[in-house]
Amino acid sequence: MARKIIATAYGDPAEVLELVDEEPPRPGPGHVLVETKAIGVNPADAKIVRGTMGGDESKLPLPIGFEAAGVVAAVGDGAVLPDGPLAVGDEVIVYRASGAYADRVLADLTAVHRRPESLDVEHAAGLLLVGVTAADLIGTAGVTADDVVLVHGGSGAVGAITIQLARSAGATVIATASPRNHDHLRALGAIPIAYGDGLLDRIREVSPAPVTVALDTVGTDEAIDASLALVDNPGKIVSIAAFGRASDGIVLVNGSTPESKSLRAEAVDGLIADAAAGELVTEVAKTFPLADAATALTELETSHPRGKFVLIP
Ligand SMILES: NC(=O)c1ccc[n+]([C@@H]2O[C@H](COP(=O)([O-])OP(=O)(O)OC[C@H]3O[C@@H](n4cnc5c(N)ncnc54)[C@H](OP(=O)(O)O)[C@@H]3O)[C@@H](O)[C@H]2O)c1
Repeated sequence: MARKIIATAYGDPAEVLELVDEEPPRPGPGHVLVETKAIGVNPADAKIVRGTMGGDESKLPLPIGFEAAGVVAAVGDGAVLPDGPLAVGDEVIVYRASGAYADRVLADLTAVHRRPESLDVEHAAGLLLVGVTAADLIGTAGVTADDVVLVHGGSGAVGAITIQLARSAGATVIATASPRNHDHLRALGAIPIAYGDGLLDRIREVSPAPVTVALDTVGTDEAIDASLALVDNPGKIVSIAAFGRASDGIVLVNGSTPESKSLRAEAVDGLIADAAAGELVTEVAKTFPLADAATALTELETSHPRGKFVLIP
């Protein structure tokens, strides 16, 4: 039998998540079955369980989880990637998956990517959702070496990759985080500052030149107000979280437009290659057994871990 986590209702993860057994699904044409070894946990998983992203009762019980790393357990007809056929035993990353909180995941070929040996399963499982989001922020803003980029939430899973991609483009980067994470931001190549009262003054103090781009992974009014005060062109303020502030002329991205979709799809191979080569640094904060998914989601919401939470089936 296969084990998977489902949400039986919308609400507190501790109350609505259940671990259930089911017959392992059989892959049809263009699909593979992946036995997961590590599963990425994302804030979106908690928002979906709570119904923050829609409470359609007809979708219950809900599968949870968008990404995992594991090994191919069965292949359907035509299971061929651009570099050759997939075979049972191949190490892969699945993104974007549906119902990744499981020990077996059925994946469409477009969501299956080979995992290089030098990228361990835990880091691989938590790489792509945040990685492609960071690439979308950078691509949508059109960051170049001439930019001074402000990253709100630089110590977060998306923010840390965003800093690294902006630095790779040659930009100067200022990033916000709690003071305990400032050494980490410096190591990533950013000028660290604390968020909170006085944010705008602190940014002006440390910025070597006018801020030309703001990339927001936090969504607070403080982050958006500071960005609007600093960046002349609101089209250069791109957020993945401030969905209530669209009327300010800022750009919101969530992978739903053709531009956002293609920036994300184009980023996948480079993210995997750079992470495998050690050129893109990501962190795993903590692992939890699959059965403790509710605890992982609750802890993710209530603490600020630096790095990803990962479930182990
Ligand atoms: N639109 C999309 O496509 C998309 C995709 C992925 C994620 N998201 C969303 O983006 C957000 C970030 O995701 P993530 O995985 O990077 O989360 P994360 O790893 O939990 O990072 C959160 C970041 O926010 C900072 N932070 C916390 N409270 C703050 C405050 N009051 N003011 C300023 N900064 C604060 C944290 O800093 P410290 O820990 O240093 O305090 C940390 O840098 C989530 O809301 C997620 O749902 C959206």
